[in-house]
Amino acid sequence: MNSWKVPLADVTLGPEETAAVTEVLQSGWLSMGPKTQEFEDRFATFLGVKHAFAVANGTAALHLACEVLGLGPGDEVLCPALTFVASANAILYTGARPVFVDITGPHDLNLSVSDAAAKVSERTRAIMVVHYGGYPGDMDAVAALARRCGLKIIEDCAHAPGAVYHAAQGPRLAGALSDVGCFSFFANKNLTTGEGGMVVTDDDDLAGKIRTARSHGMTTLTWDRHRGHSFSYDVVARGYNYRLDELRSALGLVQLRKLTSANARRRELTEAYRAQLQDLDRLEIPFRDAPAGSAHHLFPILLKEPSPRADFMAALARQGIQTSIHYPPVHRFSYYQKLWDAGHDHRLPRTEKIASRLVTLPLFPSLTRGQLDAVVAAVCGYWR
Ligand SMILES: Cc1ncc(COP(=O)(O)O)c(C=O)c1O
Repeated sequence: MNSWKVPLADVTLGPEETAAVTEVLQSGWLSMGPKTQEFEDRFATFLGVKHAFAVANGTAALHLACEVLGLGPGDEVLCPALTFVASANAILYTGARPVFVDITGPHDLNLSVSDAAAKVSERTRAIMVVHYGGYPGDMDAVAALARRCGLKIIEDCAHAPGAVYHAAQGPRLAGALSDVGCFSFFANKNLTTGEGGMVVTDDDDLAGKIRTARSHGMTTLTWDRHRGHSFSYDVVARGYNYRLDELRSALGLVQLRKLTSANARRRELTEAYRAQLQDLDRLEIPFRDAPAGSAHHLFPILLKEPSPRADFMAALARQGIQTSIHYPPVHRFSYYQKLWDAGHDHRLPRTEKIASRLVTLPLFPSLTRGQLDAVVAAVCGYWR
């Protein structure tokens, strides 16, 4: 499907996925129904949470999280700038404002909890943790800050399905460490349904609100009415059409079964990259000393200054190797700069220092050792 010798990411879909989607097509029921219910049940069991709600995409998941936590105009939410723009956009949808938090450092690209603490104001209501690249943030410290300041916690787990965090009380999966966990099943993610997402929570009250808000604020679903369980409905809240369909849920069920082994393969490949690149004095490798448990969604490297990034990426592209940047920091986008002009203080020295040096190398479960060796050779060869 693509012309790269080594693409940045690739999906692994087999006959199981084809059979699962075909079965749904043959069933004649395409919109949210039994497959979605099964996907939600299995996802909740996998994570060890009480409730999981399948949604249209990860952005919808984040928006629902912000909405049901009651965020609105005048509220502030702590959020890293080194993330995909969807994390911050979801906060803006509610009328609340993201207050950008710096990274911990070049070795750990997750948000700095001490910088987050320094940015708490009387308007701060929540903190959104993004487990960058699949590496869990420091959730014990986040939980302590949240307790101290009365904040809600949202986890953006777009990169982290299956990531394990070794909390003080024992290991838990990313998404199960906060008030609401949000997942993306976009095509380049560890678990994909093309477009899709999941919202998870242990809180019964929040779960009720998510269930309602996901489907127009209505009290019953088309599927309930189809089964004769209900003939009418009320609308009890502001709602959206953020539902997932049966085709994607069937795909998700198969992908969920493959997730643990796919993540293990990502770990092996990450270790191979690290072993081969660690002595190269032209770059740093973030998360090298991170505790075990990452979902290894990304393999980022940091070029040493002065950074030849554009030239480096072009040199790899000429050899058929696709690279990317995760991410251009959100506070630098012109739209967000305007928010800054409107009185927001975005001093993020550590994010600024690494932003122009970050490059993401190809990583996906079906990456072959030959492809990985070609990437390593191209990276090392750049400086020869
Ligand atoms: C960190 C992060 N948050 C949120 C999203 C949004 O997910 P989606 O594309 O499914 O809306 C993505 C990915 O696309 C992401 O990488």
